[in-house]
Amino acid sequence: MSCSLSLFFFFFPLLLLLSTTTNLSHANDTQPQARPYSHDNDNDNINNNMLPQSEAETLFSIMETMSSDQTWRTSYPHPCLPDSSWPGIECKPGTDNLLHVSRLDFGNPPYPTCKNSATFPSLIFSLPYLRSVFFFNCFTLTKTNLSIISSSFSSSIQQLSFRSNPALTGPIPPEISNLKSLKILTLSQNRLSGPIPEEIFYLSSLVHLDLSYNLLTGGVSDQLGYLKNLVGLDLSYNMLRNSIPNTIGQLGLLQKLDLSSNLLTGGIPDSIGKLSSLVFLALSNNQLSGRFPQGIENLQSLQYIIMDQNPMSITLPLELGKLVRLQELRLADSGYSGTIPENFSQLKNLTTLSLQNNHLTGEIPESFGGLPHIYHLNLSWNLLAGIVPFNASFLNRLGRNLDLSGNPGLCLSSSEAYNVKIGVSVCGRNGSGSDLHQPLMSSRASSPPGLVSHHQHQLVLVSSLGVLVLHQMMFLV
Ligand SMILES: *[C@@H]1O[C@H](CO)[C@@H](O)[C@H](O)[C@H]1NC(C)=O
Ligand SMILES: *[C@@H]1O[C@H](CO)[C@@H](O)[C@H](O)[C@H]1NC(C)=O
Ligand SMILES: *[C@@H]1O[C@H](CO)[C@@H](O)[C@H](O)[C@H]1NC(C)=O
Ligand SMILES: *[C@@H]1O[C@H](CO)[C@@H](O)[C@H](O)[C@H]1NC(C)=O
Ligand SMILES: *[C@@H]1O[C@H](CO)[C@@H](O)[C@H](O)[C@H]1NC(C)=O
Ligand SMILES: *[C@@H]1O[C@H](CO)[C@@H](O)[C@H](O)[C@H]1NC(C)=O
Ligand SMILES: *[C@@H]1O[C@H](CO)[C@@H](O)[C@H](O)[C@H]1NC(C)=O
Repeated sequence: MSCSLSLFFFFFPLLLLLSTTTNLSHANDTQPQARPYSHDNDNDNINNNMLPQSEAETLFSIMETMSSDQTWRTSYPHPCLPDSSWPGIECKPGTDNLLHVSRLDFGNPPYPTCKNSATFPSLIFSLPYLRSVFFFNCFTLTKTNLSIISSSFSSSIQQLSFRSNPALTGPIPPEISNLKSLKILTLSQNRLSGPIPEEIFYLSSLVHLDLSYNLLTGGVSDQLGYLKNLVGLDLSYNMLRNSIPNTIGQLGLLQKLDLSSNLLTGGIPDSIGKLSSLVFLALSNNQLSGRFPQGIENLQSLQYIIMDQNPMSITLPLELGKLVRLQELRLADSGYSGTIPENFSQLKNLTTLSLQNNHLTGEIPESFGGLPHIYHLNLSWNLLAGIVPFNASFLNRLGRNLDLSGNPGLCLSSSEAYNVKIGVSVCGRNGSGSDLHQPLMSSRASSPPGLVSHHQHQLVLVSSLGVLVLHQMMFLV
C-alpha cells in the first residue's frame, strides 16, 4: 500500500512530463518530416503515441501469458495512448521520439492480476526501454523460476521487484549480472533457493538489494564488497551460513543492513565499524558471538540496533552509550552478563530498550528514569536487584510497556507501588499474599509456550513495520 503510494509520487512527475511532451508533439503532427523516420515502422510514425510494432507484439505476448483480466490485444490496441486506461503500464518517449513501455506492474488490482498458469515472462528483458517491473502476489500456483535470457544484455531495467510470489522457486540465475543497469533488486517473499550467486555482486549500480524471506543457502561471498553504491541490503529470513564477510566494510554508503534470522556464525566483523552512514542494523536470530565491532561508537547515524537472540555472552558494551541517535536498542536473549551501563541513559532519543532474557546483574541505573522518550522498556528475566528507581509518573507513563518481571531481587518502594503491574513485588513483603501489588505473573511462567512465541511474532511484526517505514524513507530520499 505505502509502496504503491511512494511509487505514485515517484512516477507522478514522470507522467506529467510524459503528457506534456506528447501534447507538444501532437501540435507538430502536421510536419512528420521533422521527426526521425524509421522505414520498417511507417505506420507507427503517423501517430507517435503508438509503440513500435515489434514492441507492441512483445508486450501483447507477455500479457497473454500473464493475465486473463482482458484480451489485452483488442482492449488496448494502443496501450501508450494518453487516454489508455490500462493500469500498470507506463510509456516514455525514447530518443527516437516514439513511445516505449517503461514500466510494467502486475499483481493486486488495479494492476493486471496474474492468472493461475502465469509463469515468469523472460520476454520482459527484450523490451528495450523497460525501466521498472513489479510482480507482487503474481506467481502463486504454477511453479516457475527466474530465467534471464541472453537478450537481457541490452536490458535497461533499473528496478526489478518480485515480492510475495510463493510459486517463484529455484535458484537466482547467475545471468542476473546481465542486467547491468539494475539499481533496485527486490526478490523478497518468494521461494527462491540455492546460494546467492556471486555474479549478483557484479551489479555495480545496485543501490538496494533485498533477497529477504526466501530459502537461500550457502554463505555470503567476499564479492559483496563490490557493491560500492549499495544503500540498503536485506538478506534476512533465509538460511545463510558461515560468517559475515569482512568486505562488508567496503559498502561505505550503506544505511540499512538486515541479516536477521539466518544461520550466520562467528563474530561481527570489525569492518562494520567503518559503515558511517548506517542507520539501521539488524542481526537478530543468528549464531553470532563474541564482541561488538571495534569503532562501533563511530556509527553516529545509527538509530536502530536490533540484535536479539545471538549467543553473544559478553558484557554490554559501554560504547553503545555514545550512539546518541539510537531510538531502538534490542539485545534480548543473548547471554549478556554484568551490569547495565549507566552510560545508556545518555541515549536521549531511545524509545525502546529490550534487554530481557539475559544474565544482567546489579541495579537498574537511576538515570533511566530520565530517558525522555522511552516508551518500551523490557528488563525482564535477568538477575537485577535493588529498589526500582522509577517514580510513579514514569511508571504510569510506560504502563504495560515496562516489564521487570522475573528479577527476584527487584522490589518496588511502597510509595510508588499503587496499582502498577510491572512484575515486581513491594519491598519488604514477600508477595505471597493476595494484596493489590502482587507481581504480574510472568508470561513465561504462566502461559503456554505458544503464547510466548506469539508475542515474539508481534515483536517481529513491529520491527518489520519499522523496517518498512525506514525502507520507504530511504527509497524516497
Ligand atoms: C514544432 O516544430 C518546430 C520546428 O519543426 C519547432 O520550432 C517548434 O518548437 C515545434 N513546436 C512544438 C509545439 O513542439
Ligand atoms: C527453469 O525452468 C525451466 C522450465 O521448467 C527449466 O528448463 C530451467 O532449467 C529452469 N532454470 C533453472 C535455473 O532452474
Ligand atoms: C560513560 O559515561 C561516562 C560519564 O557519563 C564517561 O565519562 C565515559 O567516557 C563513558 N564511557 C563510554 C565508554 O562511553
Ligand atoms: C532526536 O530525535 C529528534 C527528533 O526525531 C531529532 O531532531 C534529534 O536530532 C535527535 N537527536 C539526536 C541526538 O539524534
Ligand atoms: C519522576 O522522575 C523524573 C526523572 O527522574 C523527573 O524528571 C520527574 O520530575 C519525576 N516526577 C515526579 C512526579 O516526581
Ligand atoms: C518482555 O520480554 C518477555 C520475555 O521475552 C516477554 O515475555 C514479555 O512479553 C515482554 N514484555 C513486554 C512488555 O514487552
Ligand atoms: C513471608 O513468607 C513467609 C514464609 O512463606 C511467611 O511465614 C511470612 O508470614 C511472610 N511475610 C509476609 C510479610 O507476608
